[in-house]
Amino acid sequence: MFFDLTEEHLMIQKAARDFANDVLKPGVIERDEHQKFPAEEIKQLGELGFMGMMVDPKYGGGGMDCVSYVLAMEEISKVDASCSVVMSVNNSLVCWGLEKFGTEEQKQKYLVPLAKGEIIGAFCLSEPEAGSDATSQRTTAIDKGDHYLLNGTKNWITNGSTASVYLVIAQTDVAKGHKGINAVIVEKGMPGFVVGPKENKLGIRGSDTHSLMFTDVKIPKENRIGEDGFGFKFAMQVLSGGRIGIASQALGIASGAYELALAYSKERKAFGKPINQHQAIQFKLADMATQIEAARLLCMKAAWMKDQHMNFDKASAMAKVFASKVAMDTTIEAVQVHGGYGYVKEYHVERLMRDAKITQIYEGTTEVQKIVISRALLA
Ligand code: CAA
Repeated sequence: MFFDLTEEHLMIQKAARDFANDVLKPGVIERDEHQKFPAEEIKQLGELGFMGMMVDPKYGGGGMDCVSYVLAMEEISKVDASCSVVMSVNNSLVCWGLEKFGTEEQKQKYLVPLAKGEIIGAFCLSEPEAGSDATSQRTTAIDKGDHYLLNGTKNWITNGSTASVYLVIAQTDVAKGHKGINAVIVEKGMPGFVVGPKENKLGIRGSDTHSLMFTDVKIPKENRIGEDGFGFKFAMQVLSGGRIGIASQALGIASGAYELALAYSKERKAFGKPINQHQAIQFKLADMATQIEAARLLCMKAAWMKDQHMNFDKASAMAKVFASKVAMDTTIEAVQVHGGYGYVKEYHVERLMRDAKITQIYEGTTEVQKIVISRALLA
């Protein structure tokens, strides 16, 4: 068993770290404060090849492995989790889904510009009454011969107003249950497609979260992904990979908070010495570092299994459930290490604490991950 990263991995990690510190850090507090989408920063991430990292170069991607993706996600998330969720959705839900299950025409038309970062994609599964219970889709895609007629509402859609391409999950035949669900590609600007108001969120405030409304939107049949009725399994497989991205985001939020706490503990003096000379702080740092290392190993194992084309459903669920808990615990402790300074925006840790919470909710809550894990254990 080897734990070493390759030269290429180290280069990707450094490129992501430099980008995060040089480009993302200067404006991150302002973007959070004003809920400003990192449009220019995402464009630059695309130019660096980070928006379609795992996509085959013949479709405009970086041809990198999933381990590289985890490394980049951790570095970007240390500084700006609003930016990394855009990256995660585009890479692992939209690009990976289209590359693995799309037709050649769909790949040429949609995947190529998505992988090059020229446009952004969104993944639309959640509804007002279908969150964790994802088979209860109310949005319908009724078969009209050469097209589907799409009607319904999607909620909490990341990249809701900034995306150009939307992968929408909808029910075609209610009688068939989950086997009657399809995934269709919707383009921004299709008549009947309206983007709803932006959500005012606790964390990842720079990301762009909206509801979407579809009224009699005509979707050409060639925009269906996979066979008729494949939509639910498509969503489940894509989300399984997505969970590696969100686990890595949680890992990055945790390690970013830890690094800030470590640096602060060297500077801040109390009772005549730096606070890191007090055992109360040393034990906090030791706990944080240990938990983060364990989360990193789970993320890397899930990524490695994906790279080996093994079944990674349980591994990605374990990585997400654990790393998101570590993100919550570590960011709370990082604020505590900073004392009063931790509670103000300039010190970054309060934002990381707010950003951490969503990693226990989106792309399958902690409770959903435990369903996935326990079903795998009992199978
Ligand atoms: N791969 C392939 N097939 C899968 C699968 C997988 N990983 N998981 C399930 N399936 C198949 C099952 O085998 C079953 O097929 P058969 O009937 O042919 O055997 C079918 O799908 C139905 O599966 P279940 O019976 O397990 O379905 P369920 O109703 O019990 O639900 C669940 C299981 C795990 C709870 C699922 O509904 C789920 O994952 N819910 C959470 C949804 C979610 O993650 N939402 C996040 C929204 S997207 C988002 O947040 C993106 C963003 O913007 C950041």
